[in-house]
Amino acid sequence: MKKEKNPFGELNLFRNDQLNKKKLKIGFIGGGPNSFIGYAHRLAARFDNRYQIMAGVFSKDKKKSVEFGKSLGLEKQRCYNDYKEMAAKESSRTDGVEVVGIMTPSGDHYKIAKEFAKHKISIICDKPLTASLNEADALKKIVKKNKIFFAITHNYSAYPMLREAKDLVDNNKIGKIKLINVEYPQGYTVAVKKKDQKNILKWRLDKNMCGPSMILAEIGTHAYHLLRYVTGLEVKEISAEVSSLSDEISVDDNAFMTLRMNNKARGSIWVSSAATGGENGLKIRVYGTKGAVEWFQDDPNILKFTELNNPTRIITRASNSVSSLSMQSSRVAAGHPEGFFEAFANIYTEFADLITSSKKNLSSIPSIEDGVKGVKFMFAAKESSDKNSKWIKL
Ligand SMILES: NC(=O)c1ccc[n+]([C@@H]2O[C@H](COP(=O)([O-])OP(=O)(O)OC[C@H]3O[C@@H](n4cnc5c(N)ncnc54)[C@H](O)[C@@H]3O)[C@@H](O)[C@H]2O)c1
Repeated sequence: MKKEKNPFGELNLFRNDQLNKKKLKIGFIGGGPNSFIGYAHRLAARFDNRYQIMAGVFSKDKKKSVEFGKSLGLEKQRCYNDYKEMAAKESSRTDGVEVVGIMTPSGDHYKIAKEFAKHKISIICDKPLTASLNEADALKKIVKKNKIFFAITHNYSAYPMLREAKDLVDNNKIGKIKLINVEYPQGYTVAVKKKDQKNILKWRLDKNMCGPSMILAEIGTHAYHLLRYVTGLEVKEISAEVSSLSDEISVDDNAFMTLRMNNKARGSIWVSSAATGGENGLKIRVYGTKGAVEWFQDDPNILKFTELNNPTRIITRASNSVSSLSMQSSRVAAGHPEGFFEAFANIYTEFADLITSSKKNLSSIPSIEDGVKGVKFMFAAKESSDKNSKWIKL
């Protein structure tokens, strides 16, 4: 979609649109010292100044949790012993939290989210939504019944140039989609020895905490969400091989999946932690009857766009031809790199907009429905693999 010529005309410079908007009071469960993703959530909440961090439980170890809360500047009485106490006490305060971010091991998401939903506190939860199918369905019902806002942090979908890809697809610039490929090779389990796996993989060794497959829970659900987000298509059937290529670790580390889409297109997803030297090589390629788009996390500020019988074009982030959706997701002018943290922050900021504005539907935010679909995808892929790659309906 062509925009005006002024290169800064549409840029949401430093998300100045967020100035003077209502700030929401937020608390966190999980994400304590040494956690992997806690820092990204807390930074995302503060990025555009839309949240005040007021309360939390950052670890099951009470002492550690309180120490950490205090280091963030929280009042001691709002560093709680556990999530139940926090939900009860915060909901009875006039200045209690309005939103809770949940980033504990996945198997605990349900019981924690349920408690806050009951108290009408809105939720931002990390993926996968839950580690079981029943809990995913039950949580959706609880969220709907209590009419709270809910987002799941499929943060990759908030990169500006992936949103540009989505806009091109939505505006029929690549025609009818025929082929899709998403891959996410990582290499972090390659040299892990049996004796060290507990230290490195922690709760991921327990299916009740992680779900039926480590690699599908870790990055498979992200890849699946991205495929659905960019293409707007759904997977109809899946055939998968989920395996452990390591002789040392006791969980799976690689999954190949073939997909039949609801529009007859064909797709594939490959996710791995067994790809030696692999970093965070997330990549999506979508091919249609009129063109194709390609995006690679190694170079997140560009999107490759090819129109049939024409040379490939490189579209740069925040350049004056990108869509409003993409431009509004950017903060700095073209040429200054934006990345992982800004994309994560887009989810938090848009969630604040969703709660505080009259627009009660922001389709860019991954929802509880996306969370449930992610859990169903994990289980279907694992079932297929257990049945020698039999096709399973989703
Ligand atoms: N969005 C992403 O890109 C992304 C990346 C990594 C992990 N994740 C997801 O985030 C979640 C956490 O993963 P992680 O890698 O940060 O795990 P982690 O083990 O590194 O950290 C978990 C943290 O939660 C705390 N904790 C555990 N149970 C708790 C409880 N009941 N109350 C309060 N605190 C508790 C632990 O002390 C720890 O600080 C998982 O669901 C995971 O799948 C998402």
